[in-house]
Amino acid sequence: MSSSDDRSDKPNSGWSRRSFLKGTSLALSVPLVAGVKVVEVAGAQVKVFGPTKIPITLNINGASRTATIEPRVTLLDTLRNELELTGAKRVCDRGTCGACTVMVDGKTVYSCSMLAIEAQGKKITTVEGLEQNGQLSPVQQAFVDNDAQQCGFCTPGFVMSCTALLAKYPNPTPDQIARNVGGNTCRCGTYIGMKAAIAQAAQNQRGGRR
Ligand code: FES
Ligand code: FES
Repeated sequence: MSSSDDRSDKPNSGWSRRSFLKGTSLALSVPLVAGVKVVEVAGAQVKVFGPTKIPITLNINGASRTATIEPRVTLLDTLRNELELTGAKRVCDRGTCGACTVMVDGKTVYSCSMLAIEAQGKKITTVEGLEQNGQLSPVQQAFVDNDAQQCGFCTPGFVMSCTALLAKYPNPTPDQIARNVGGNTCRCGTYIGMKAAIAQAAQNQRGGRR
């Protein structure tokens, strides 16, 4: 009976088991690109990022954007500090206030609670991406028309959540509004203006029909 070493040393394989392992351990010690290594965990090859900076590419508002960041950096900090997209605000930085809300593949996300490397390959929309040809989006315009902000710090996050709300529910009920915008907080308490803005934007979206 042949040993496992004999089986892997078949002619024409080009690699003996021993030489394969030697080659593999050599490869594992060499990063694929700066800051990215492959290690073996329980027989599976796993990519390990960092701790040094790595290059990433994000699809933001329809454009491809690149940055070089440490893997621990959030999407929010990448947007604000690396890509000069400061619409999403950093308030609680722990997933409770909604000021950092952006859309990822059409769903609202707290960008302070998502790593930028996780957002690669997804479609990211920030408040800067809502305006079209210099025209505010219907939700942005409704916020202006209804004076739905005071200090304005929470406003970009609310605009993103309301945009997602109206994409899902063109004529939202109070319950749907509460459930879909309830993850955002306004310390200035401009909720009455925001409800009016949602009603106006919804009506405009229906072509002005009540
Ligand atoms: S800053 Fe992200 S939820 Fe508050
Ligand atoms: S307008 Fe100031 S926190 Fe909302």
